[in-house]
Amino acid sequence: MAKYKSIFTRAVHVGERGAKPDFKPVSMPIYNSVGYLYEDLKDLDAVFGSERPGFVYARYGNPTNSALEEVLADLEEGEAALTFGSGMAAVYASLMAAGVKAGTAVVSAFDVYGATYAICARLLPNWGVKAQFVDVTNLREVEQALAETKPAAIILETISNPLMKVADVPAITRLAHQAGAKVIVDNTFATPVLFQPLAQGVDFCVHSTTKYIGGHGDVLGGAIVTSNANRKILHEIIKMTGGNLGPAEAWLTLRGVKTLPLRMRQHCLNAMEVAKWLQAHPHVSKVNYPGLTHHPQHDLSMKLFPEALFGGMISFEIKNAGKKEIFRFMESLELILPATTLGDVYSLTLYPAMSSHRALSPEERGKVGISDSLVRLSVGIEDASEIIADLERALEKIK
Ligand SMILES: Cc1ncc(COP(=O)(O)O)c(C=O)c1O
Repeated sequence: MAKYKSIFTRAVHVGERGAKPDFKPVSMPIYNSVGYLYEDLKDLDAVFGSERPGFVYARYGNPTNSALEEVLADLEEGEAALTFGSGMAAVYASLMAAGVKAGTAVVSAFDVYGATYAICARLLPNWGVKAQFVDVTNLREVEQALAETKPAAIILETISNPLMKVADVPAITRLAHQAGAKVIVDNTFATPVLFQPLAQGVDFCVHSTTKYIGGHGDVLGGAIVTSNANRKILHEIIKMTGGNLGPAEAWLTLRGVKTLPLRMRQHCLNAMEVAKWLQAHPHVSKVNYPGLTHHPQHDLSMKLFPEALFGGMISFEIKNAGKKEIFRFMESLELILPATTLGDVYSLTLYPAMSSHRALSPEERGKVGISDSLVRLSVGIEDASEIIADLERALEKIK
């Protein structure tokens, strides 16, 4: 940059904003730039005014996040998506965009992820929102709650955390829409490989992309897939409140998406094998997995998940076990890691009473059906026989 003589100016500007490239990178680069330039300021003005697409400031969006949003919208068969810094940021924004505000009500499934439950049970009531919890597998109870509270929104999970209950999303969506409520479905456990809520009329499909979509346990994130109109509302919210996914995180997640169908298939095949094995084990009193024929929503699952893939998540109860025995079991595992997450390539186990559902009081947990003998297992993509061998060793140790 011969134009400038000073080393101070040259150090700052040389090498940046060079000639327009005549090539395209094969994979999306990480756009770390916070600001974006246009030759004509009219274009910048038009982007600010949402009259044309483009980028102006990182909190408003950037090309790496856009690429991730495009593929998530495509896989979920939605019109548009918006990414967030975590699944919880996405859950929270979806409630706001659905019109949950002072003087309204929200109906939530009982056994949603602990932090989602805590938003509805503790945070929203502080702001004058009435929250009512229902067993979403009981359609009569759902209908009654909708009629009683006339909520702005109902929030539920396709496959619930940690009890693996499967919600009749098409039927609940019909009931909610008849009652004038928006429907928010957290599809984290099912992923679009198993099920696409938007195709059933759901308004907001939420993901913790930290889980299966990222898939490798190395990136926190969230997303909402929805209509163009709802995305506009969400975009106004994120422009004001932030909570954005960083571009490096978006890039890692985009990389994860590419193998999502492959990984998901392996997770599901492994989980089916592990669930069947657990069911036959003398130390195990109960196995929650939608692929097992005794599961209360097995027939519904066959209908909703047409490829007969039932997810990679299992929960099970160990006979006569309390916290002490569960800790011994988890500490005895060698391959399966006792880490507080799920949906990774690694097999992972978690004690809901201690971690994911710690925010609930023991009474609340009891009501939901999360006992002190319940263990959650996220089945990884390792060899199923080696996962089973690890479980067998650890179950023997608690005898
Ligand atoms: C079903 C479900 N939804 C949302 C979340 C929250 O996601 P995050 O940890 O990315 O905020 C979790 C986290 O475990 C989850 O299991």
